[in-house]
Amino acid sequence: LQADALQRIAATETIRELQDIKVAYLGKKGSLTGVLRGMGKLSKEERPVVGEIANHVRTAITTALEEKTEKLEQAELEKQLEEETIDVTLPGRPVKVGGPHLLTNIVQEIEDLFIGMGYEVREGPEVETDYFNFEALNLPKNHPARDMQDSFYITNELLLRTHTSPVQARTMQEYNGEKPFKMICPGKVYRRDTDDATHSHQFTQIEGLYVDKNVRMSDLKGTLDKFAKKMFGEDREIRLRPSFFPFTEPSVEMDISCKVCDGKGCSVCKGTGWIEILGGGMVHPKVLEMGGYDPEVYSGFAFGMGPERIAMLKYGVNDIRNFYANDIRFLKQYHKA
Ligand code: PHE
Repeated sequence: LQADALQRIAATETIRELQDIKVAYLGKKGSLTGVLRGMGKLSKEERPVVGEIANHVRTAITTALEEKTEKLEQAELEKQLEEETIDVTLPGRPVKVGGPHLLTNIVQEIEDLFIGMGYEVREGPEVETDYFNFEALNLPKNHPARDMQDSFYITNELLLRTHTSPVQARTMQEYNGEKPFKMICPGKVYRRDTDDATHSHQFTQIEGLYVDKNVRMSDLKGTLDKFAKKMFGEDREIRLRPSFFPFTEPSVEMDISCKVCDGKGCSVCKGTGWIEILGGGMVHPKVLEMGGYDPEVYSGFAFGMGPERIAMLKYGVNDIRNFYANDIRFLKQYHKA
């Protein structure tokens, strides 16, 4: 019986079979169990002899079962380890990393530049009242200059702001004529334009406003000159041309000189060698007054620029729609390393 059992155990290849063998010999109806049960029928002299033998057999079978189980388990573990081996020397798969949008970087760069000149950064709502978007900027209802900026109206009194200039009025009102200040305000603006290479119904602007005693046109020119040189290079020149905005008097448009190509890249540059990048002027006395500042005492300058235009100029982007098409191949060219 023992030899038989041990042979079967040795031949077994699975743990499941081992369990069957265990049951066959040591289970309730197992062969060894049968022998032990039959002991009662034996004589007094035979019983201890047979008992001892039976115990030996049981120990032998149990030990053999245990050893084999352990061996099979070990083999299984090794097999598993082999199958699940990871080759740590293989190169990893590259993880795609995103980055800030080109416009975000441009806006931040401009913010940093003006913060360096003592400006605070402010924000205003994109859904604006007719009052702040137009009236407080010297654009009364039915004023023909409202046509300069086709608007998305929500109700009679609410619209998507057409420029960041309402933040001029909001800031003056907050400071209530009591305090000189310098602020810039970046943000999204909306106009009812048909989208093409140079127009978008939604784009960004950065507004600037400086109100103090004795602010002059030459201060505006100096500030913008400094900005242009920092943003585009020390060899750039600016020029101011007369223009019209209802909220500034006099009003100007600023052009920046543009070289064509250098080793690093090309600027978008047409005909005259000058390209327009912003509008500005001296804050209109009526606008100061509505903001709570006495125009006899205070003066100020304001300007508004388009980061898209600046990015287009700086990086030679020729279609404004690229900024909003979300084509990763375009955007990732401008991710910083
Ligand atoms: N708000 C004007 C525009 O969107 C720009 C501007 C700002 C002009 C500030 C003058 C002063 O066209």
